[in-house]
Amino acid sequence: GAPVNADISQMQPGQMLTVNWRGKPVWVVRRTPAMLEQLAALDDVVRDPMSDNSEQPAYAKNPTRSIKPEYLVVVGICTHLGCSPLYRPAPNSPDMAAGWRGGFFCPCHGSSFDLAGRVFRAVPAPTNLEIPMHGYLSETVVRIG
Ligand code: FES
Repeated sequence: GAPVNADISQMQPGQMLTVNWRGKPVWVVRRTPAMLEQLAALDDVVRDPMSDNSEQPAYAKNPTRSIKPEYLVVVGICTHLGCSPLYRPAPNSPDMAAGWRGGFFCPCHGSSFDLAGRVFRAVPAPTNLEIPMHGYLSETVVRIG
């Protein structure tokens, strides 16, 4: 499939944009400094904190799973059985996994992921959400694929 470009110039901090790439939803999330700070604190409650067993290009195998920490680019398909998780950025959701600080929640079987797409322990999804190949054409345009 052809790459697609996403214009991120209008994105507000905390906002998510969905782009269709090869029939899959790809999410771009503009993470706030507070969201980024929380990631390190979750290393102990996610299954694969360094993404050793999860899919991402080499340039996104890092603590924020991104090229630019401010922007997460991730395939919006649960790694369990393929449902599309919901964006739940709020840090205080009592029904969510231990240590929940906001992220993505899959309603099909209850898998939860943090704001780097890292899967929490003790949920059905085996791996972190996939990071697609992507790159920046400019400050405001990200190319996916
Ligand atoms: Fe997401 Fe099963 S498909 S938890």
